[in-house]
Amino acid sequence: MSVQKIELCKTADVDEGAAIRVETGDLSLAVFNLNGAFYVMDDTCSHGPGSLSEGPIHGDVVECDFHNGSFNIKTGEVVDPPCMIPQKTYKVVVEGDAVFIEA
Ligand code: FES
Repeated sequence: MSVQKIELCKTADVDEGAAIRVETGDLSLAVFNLNGAFYVMDDTCSHGPGSLSEGPIHGDVVECDFHNGSFNIKTGEVVDPPCMIPQKTYKVVVEGDAVFIEA
């Protein structure tokens, strides 16, 4: 399978300490900006219908606003239950003013 580079947004679209949702193809993604570094994971919580781009961010952790589980934004690992399954994360590449994932 060849790696595809997909443009998600411009760096200026995501404020520091915030996230946006980006839909592309079959993917619904949460794009985070932590101190100017960008991280991408699936937007839909592995535990249910929560949208992680809408959850509060505490440092490197995003809280799902549905049942208040939380995930590490950089790794997708579960930080707090009731989530059990890590979020899928994507390799992010920033080129110029655009944010891409390799998928
Ligand atoms: S849907 Fe996210 S914690 Fe339940």
